[in-house]
Amino acid sequence: MLTLGINYSQMHDSSACIVRDGELLFAVAEERISRVKHDAGFPQLAIQACLDFAGVKAQQLDEVCFGWQRPGAAYRRDLQCFASGKLPLSYNSGLSATLHFLSMWHQHGGAKRFTQKFGAVKARMRFVDHHLAHALSGFAYSGFDDAAVVVMDGRGAWEATSIWRGRNGGLEHVLTIPFPDSVGFFYSEFTEFLGFHRNSDEWKVMGLAPYGQSGIDLSAFIDVLGSANGVPYRVHTRNLISRGATPFAEMARRLGAPRNAESDIDVRHKNIAYAVQEACEAAMMNVVRLALAKTGSRNLCLAGGVALNSKANGKIVASGLIDKIFVQPAASDDGVALGAALAPYLEGGGKLPSKAMRHAYLGPAFDDEVIETALKTYKLRYSRVNDAAEPAAELLSRGKILGWFQGRMEFGPRALGARSILADPRDPEMNAKVNNAVKFREWWRPFAPSVKKEIAGEYLESATDSPFMILTAQVRPEKRSVIPSVTHVDGSARPQTVEKEINPLYWRLIDGFGKRTGVPVIMNTSFNLRGEAIVNTPTDAIRTFFSSGMDSLVIGNFVVEK
Ligand SMILES: [Fe+2]
Repeated sequence: MLTLGINYSQMHDSSACIVRDGELLFAVAEERISRVKHDAGFPQLAIQACLDFAGVKAQQLDEVCFGWQRPGAAYRRDLQCFASGKLPLSYNSGLSATLHFLSMWHQHGGAKRFTQKFGAVKARMRFVDHHLAHALSGFAYSGFDDAAVVVMDGRGAWEATSIWRGRNGGLEHVLTIPFPDSVGFFYSEFTEFLGFHRNSDEWKVMGLAPYGQSGIDLSAFIDVLGSANGVPYRVHTRNLISRGATPFAEMARRLGAPRNAESDIDVRHKNIAYAVQEACEAAMMNVVRLALAKTGSRNLCLAGGVALNSKANGKIVASGLIDKIFVQPAASDDGVALGAALAPYLEGGGKLPSKAMRHAYLGPAFDDEVIETALKTYKLRYSRVNDAAEPAAELLSRGKILGWFQGRMEFGPRALGARSILADPRDPEMNAKVNNAVKFREWWRPFAPSVKKEIAGEYLESATDSPFMILTAQVRPEKRSVIPSVTHVDGSARPQTVEKEINPLYWRLIDGFGKRTGVPVIMNTSFNLRGEAIVNTPTDAIRTFFSSGMDSLVIGNFVVEK
């Protein structure tokens, strides 16, 4: 069976993947090819890339699976919320909900667009409940026989939080907390209040939080209750949404004016970020407790945009409540393509294919011939090497900031050693150097370490099996001064543990750096400039390299230096 999974909602992060006989072959977000960050358009380029990789035509597909309900489900929920007063009805909110519905309805949820672009197909068009698609993207890729599955996001069609039980290749629904009672929505509203972009910059709030202190009361916006009565949290949506012409009226009344984008960050902003993150962590912990109690399992799968909160995930691991955890690395909506593509396997009581996802190298790759053609096109001076890990380790040990472009691109928001910018984590100034020269991003956002898995325990107190940079851990106190540029202000880090069998080239690079310096840890951030999507092609990489202060580019078996 050949199935195509698609995320298309016109909201954010359109994507596609292709699965053959239960095996995930390829996945890519539209933004990486279109170069429009968080591209919400129909993922035509991503779908074509899936078909090209599998060497098939659309007419050979058996199933085309969208990770959303048919158009209408979200609109019905919006109308219910307007009618009951759960969402304030204004001209703008009513109009935007209606226009969104009409646009998706006109396109038959994307099915019509699919046949317009790729021709008539025999494949069944399937619309998978959004939270079911997220839940499948967690459980079916965890490799667990039995697990509690928690999905938390901004919203599905009508869902905000859901709990499932995965067992014996099946997935049972346990409970759903409907939108707008949504932790993701709460976090996004505050992201915007603090002067950042919603559904994109939540990382910035999470990174800012440890600079603040407790003391801000957010009980007008969220109550973090308990798991005992089955109500883990309650979000007071009406206070989050302004009813009048003034944006964030109620939030401003209680917390002061919203921050203007790009303006200075002051103590009040830091303290608000602290309170928002604290409430999110407590709400997530309550949902997880409830899920464990309802399912009786001690294995946990997480998906949905809220599961990108690596800090909260790290606290869940450190709580000792669970034995094993799998957080879908593409936890946001790009990942529903992965879940939707497996939905046909559940039909008629069927079993899900189950295989642990150990890496995210699911995207396009470019061989040396293609890379060399690009280098020649730009008339660049380069040298060819036999093993890219060696010169890269040498350059890093000499304090160079490196562009590293190797193999298949990562799926999901993190760079994991395929499209990465790398640097020496021992230099306390390196954070500022990379920020100033390359990333041009906010000073408070921490960089993450890639560490050889077998020695991760020497540097970290937990999360020693963390291939996806989606769990934070505390750096051992005696190691904080050894790797200062990847240790956050609160002593935490968001590690990627690298296994030799999974990515031998990247492992050799870290090993080579370790042999030269005594520290087998490197600083790894995504290969992109601020506000841009991670690079996909050699041309993207070359363009980004020359638009920044990177010193060297190691691309395939070629080294380019400035
Ligand atoms: Fe979602």
